[in-house]
Amino acid sequence: MVLSARSLPRALQLTLAVIKPDAVAHPVMLEALHQRILEDSFLIVRCKDLVWRRQDSERFYAEHSGRFFYQRLVEFMSSGPMRAYILAREDAVRHWRDLMGPTKVFRARFTAPSSLRAQFGLTDTRNTTHGSDSVESAQREIRFFFPEFCAEEWMEKEEPLFRSGQIQYDHQKQIHTPLPQN
Ligand code: RTP
Ligand code: MG
Repeated sequence: MVLSARSLPRALQLTLAVIKPDAVAHPVMLEALHQRILEDSFLIVRCKDLVWRRQDSERFYAEHSGRFFYQRLVEFMSSGPMRAYILAREDAVRHWRDLMGPTKVFRARFTAPSSLRAQFGLTDTRNTTHGSDSVESAQREIRFFFPEFCAEEWMEKEEPLFRSGQIQYDHQKQIHTPLPQN
């Protein structure tokens, strides 16, 4: 599928999005979440399925160590497969956080009923998705999940192509890729 040509005035921002084990365990839910990402105008730069060891989980959530939910959280996040994305969009960090909705599922259902956590979340721990909470977190978290990805190089070489719509959606890889250049 070739995307219609468009040109956005502002540089795209990258964010890290994760579909957590509660949702990846259900293929229909995972597919629905992937479609919501596409419908919400995010461009998928990278997509990776992975399983965390407990120590990965502890390292990623070190900022929450000591909180009452920490043990539950690190156990859950290393309990099964998850899917990580690098997403691009103007204001990607804020837009992805908005699409996810509030952390707590019941609050999400009342205050943001069409959000992902409202629609798919199970509990305050098993709340379907993760999203970076700032540009700085996004840079750190993208490195954590995708150490082979060079954001500076992507911004220089691919961002202009993504921004001007010179991309296509690769159905096999489930990511957007630049159109072949002549
Ligand atoms: P995330 O980091 O996963 O995108 O979520 P967030 O910013 O909305 O929430 P944060 O405060 O960073 O919490 C990280 C994750 O810990 C679990 N949690 N459980 N039981 C609880 O009250 C509780 N509070 C947080 C959730 O899985 C949350 O996403
Ligand atoms: Mg957080």
